[in-house]
Amino acid sequence: MTIALSAKGLEKRFGSLVVAGDINFEVPVGQRCALIGPNGAGKTTLINLLTGLLPLDGGEIRLGEVDITRAPPQHRVRGGLVRTFQINSLFPRLTPLEAVTMAVCERTGEARDFVRRLATHEAAIEEAHDILKSLRISHVCYRETRELAYGQQRLLEIALALATKPRVLLLDEPAAGVPKDESGELFNVIDGLSRDLTIFFIEHDMNVVFRFASRILVMVGGRLLLEGTPREIAADPRVREVYLGKAGHV
Ligand SMILES: Nc1ncnc2c1ncn2[C@@H]1O[C@H](COP(=O)(O)OP(=O)(O)OP(=O)(O)O)[C@@H](O)[C@H]1O
Ligand SMILES: [Mg+2]
Repeated sequence: MTIALSAKGLEKRFGSLVVAGDINFEVPVGQRCALIGPNGAGKTTLINLLTGLLPLDGGEIRLGEVDITRAPPQHRVRGGLVRTFQINSLFPRLTPLEAVTMAVCERTGEARDFVRRLATHEAAIEEAHDILKSLRISHVCYRETRELAYGQQRLLEIALALATKPRVLLLDEPAAGVPKDESGELFNVIDGLSRDLTIFFIEHDMNVVFRFASRILVMVGGRLLLEGTPREIAADPRVREVYLGKAGHV
């Protein structure tokens, strides 16, 4: 079993508040791993630590074999660790095709040499189109982003992440703000992504989590309470206790 992403003894405090306390986990290549827990548990903070947006107080992060604990965020992206945000962060007036093409060009280095290398630019457009197609939003690729349905906008965020050619994709509540009846379809599309891609996602909807995750980590008060298969987590009385007591999402 090859490990795509691992965390060892991660520590983070905001003043006296422990938001990450001795966090340990390993995510094998290709796994769909869900991170769940009540509001304020520290889930988004954990993703911020993994991506380098926040500095750690202690511990070690590895991307594959590589120690990235002190790597700046852009190095982690180049290494294949890419995230989307809990809050929409798109350019409203670009079309999906423009936005994703720019992201592809950013990766290939064409963005610095935009005018002279039209031929390679064409390849970038084609790649962008393929990415949009794989997420089933190529039919809206010429519309302005602000005109897209919210679920389509969330898929566009994933498209932008895919344009960097990630090995590990971190999704912070990809279905946040999406109507409940559309979130199943959104996760169907996510589930259809390449099995070479490792996906670590935060999600509150337990139906979605139990359907799409092969493994679940449960976080409470900055600590990992337990981890297991969906079946193990569903049967564990501690999960119901924690969740029903504080958030009521189950
Ligand atoms: N920059 C910060 N400074 C101080 N406290 C913070 C900061 N960011 C987050 N926190 C606190 O850290 C705790 C964990 O927040 P975090 O956003 O990681 O939770 P979460 O599990 O993602 O919650 P949600 O499910 O609501 O998104 C919360 O108590 C929050 O108020
Ligand atoms: Mg969060």
